[in-house]
Amino acid sequence: MKAEHIAKRFGDVEVLRGVSLQVGRGDLVSIIGPSGCGKSTFLRCLNCLEIPDHGSITAMGVRIERAGGRWTRADDHAAHRLRSHVGMVFQSFNLFAHLSVLDNIVLAPRVVKGEPAQIAREQAMILLEKVGLADVARRYPATLSGGQQQRAAIARALAMRPEIMLYDEPTSALDPIVAEEVLAVMRTLDEEGMTQIVVTHDMRFAQQASDTVIYMDGGQIIESGPPDMLCVNPTDERTRRFLRTVL
Ligand SMILES: Nc1ncnc2c1ncn2[C@@H]1O[C@H](COP(=O)(O)OP(=O)(O)OP(=O)(O)O)[C@@H](O)[C@H]1O
Ligand SMILES: [Mg+2]
Repeated sequence: MKAEHIAKRFGDVEVLRGVSLQVGRGDLVSIIGPSGCGKSTFLRCLNCLEIPDHGSITAMGVRIERAGGRWTRADDHAAHRLRSHVGMVFQSFNLFAHLSVLDNIVLAPRVVKGEPAQIAREQAMILLEKVGLADVARRYPATLSGGQQQRAAIARALAMRPEIMLYDEPTSALDPIVAEEVLAVMRTLDEEGMTQIVVTHDMRFAQQASDTVIYMDGGQIIESGPPDMLCVNPTDERTRRFLRTVL
């Protein structure tokens, strides 16, 4: 996945000021940075949940190019195709409260892909097994722990068979022990070759699990590199200052 010179403003506020990023297949990239620096906005731009004003996004043979003009039906079509390759997980789980865990996972493959019920359910059970939730498949989200809900949300995203997974602070609402269950799922996906981009405040995870860590500040990427470099020996003073406050 590649993003080039992504720019985005909300009214007078320039939230992204030319953000470029290239993520290799199977890589795990962590994005860190202070609150309000544009991490979530950038992540949302990557699958066009937010429409960038300028810049381009290329992934899985789909290219979206923006030059400040009108968002066309062709753009919409491209964004739709892009999203079919990209799964997204949010801090707040966003499961459907009125559906069982299993039905949460079955829903999109049934409705969007028209998969037969039996096949969708079998696939869903395989995914629930994978994230360690097979035994709670019939329960409703409200009866699960936060960590279980987040693993269900990951399974739900995986049900659409994405090649790329985006996570916006997937463990920020969780206590450290429960967070570890979620991070373990992400590590497993990494071993299986999934491409993953994670906005996180969990420096330990960023340092231990990432191929690349990106430091964002003020709507820009300040520096990026392997965790041993960026988290241990950053070159930019802003990165150093940030790491001093969080480590
Ligand atoms: N829909 C919106 N309309 C107006 N301003 C927005 C909108 N979304 C984000 N912003 C502003 O853009 C800036 C960047 O927000 P963003 O959520 O991307 O930051 P962040 O790095 O994810 O922060 P945090 O670590 O707190 O989640 C903030 O100043 C925010 O108020
Ligand atoms: Mg955010």
